[in-house]
Amino acid sequence: MTRVLVTGGCGFIGSNFVRAVLVERPGWEVVNLDKLTYAGRLENLADVAGDRRYRFVKGDICDREAVAEAMAGCTMAVNFAAETHVDRSLLGAAHFIDTDMKGVLVLLEEARRIGLGRFVQISTDEVYGSIAEGSFDESCVLNPRNPYAASKAGGDRLAFAYWATYGVPLVITRASNNYGPYQYPEKLIPLFVTNALRDESLPLYGDGRNVRDWLHVSDHCRAVLFVLERGAAGEVYNIAGGNERENIAITREVLRLLGKPESLIRPVADRVGHDRRYSLAAAKLSDLGWSPLVPFERGLAETVRWYAENEAWWRPIKDHDGEFRRYYEEQYGARLR
Ligand code: NAD
Ligand code: DAU
Repeated sequence: MTRVLVTGGCGFIGSNFVRAVLVERPGWEVVNLDKLTYAGRLENLADVAGDRRYRFVKGDICDREAVAEAMAGCTMAVNFAAETHVDRSLLGAAHFIDTDMKGVLVLLEEARRIGLGRFVQISTDEVYGSIAEGSFDESCVLNPRNPYAASKAGGDRLAFAYWATYGVPLVITRASNNYGPYQYPEKLIPLFVTNALRDESLPLYGDGRNVRDWLHVSDHCRAVLFVLERGAAGEVYNIAGGNERENIAITREVLRLLGKPESLIRPVADRVGHDRRYSLAAAKLSDLGWSPLVPFERGLAETVRWYAENEAWWRPIKDHDGEFRRYYEEQYGARLR
């Protein structure tokens, strides 16, 4: 029996991954270890909560006992748990260092202690930093330029060190910007879609011409499952969507899909240290046989429709969660006034 520990399984990508594993691998069991921070929501997995192959454990990856309890009996682990929002890391980086670096250490130590068969550390394309032209491949030097990216680079390299030093059989993935259902509405696409649905301003940073490469979350989950089973230990794999777009283009497309006016776009003061462009070379994974399936235009249209049809998911976060309102005021209040 394969039992996989998924950390951060109540977040955006983690919840999509847990659901995908339960569907795609009927013989597997999943243990989900999640601290339930503001971004972790039990309702993201309400539909599988009763599945006998699924077990939820509330706990912190920085807590050795919680990690040992959750990892016991598992043959593999995928670490999605992280503080993930760049803008929040600019307001305070301490939680990022705790979870994205120290938490990774606790997981790696336990994996080493019990002789875990396979570990996937979910890193990010942000560890490479910004690139004006061309694309980063897996051998490029890391140049993280914001506190979130730096903490993820720390976790990424610590994982590699546990392979190189102790032979913990692990792989590291670096994916580009994900979009899709269940993304917390602080990130560009869900924030702009939900604001537009309520005819509120879309706070576009700077000149709106920063570029991100967009990857549908279902493609990301397929890629993680692929390397979990077929990646070579000690290797890093970029996971790219192949859909580079300027933020202004995404913003206009969201408004077009919703039939809303472009007058909702509100240029605001830029994010400090805002990386201009992310771009990944994806040959290593495509040579192994993986490539994304969701065309961006279709994926974005389906995503916009999901938020339009699932107001019951995001409205409580935006309207009744004091945490979100406090954050929104701190992040955008002065910019929008
Ligand atoms: P998210 O913010 O939606 O979810 C993070 C989850 O981790 C939440 O459920 C939260 O409760 C949990 N968590 C946070 N701290 C924890 C701790 N100390 N112990 C246990 N659980 C904890 O994040 P996401 O967007 O789903 O990202 C998941 C992973 O993918 C992260 O490692 C992120 O760095 C990486 N990643 C994200 C993207 C993207 O575009 N979203 C792209 C590349 C890589
Ligand atoms: O590249 C992978 C990374 O993508 C992940 O590692 C991170 O966890 C994830 O949050 C994401 O980081 P970004 O900073 O690229 O995502 P975000 O959605 O915050 O911003 C996307 C772009 O949109 C970026 O150029 C900033 C801009 N933006 C964002 C917000 C929230 C705006 O113009 N206005 C906004 O209000």
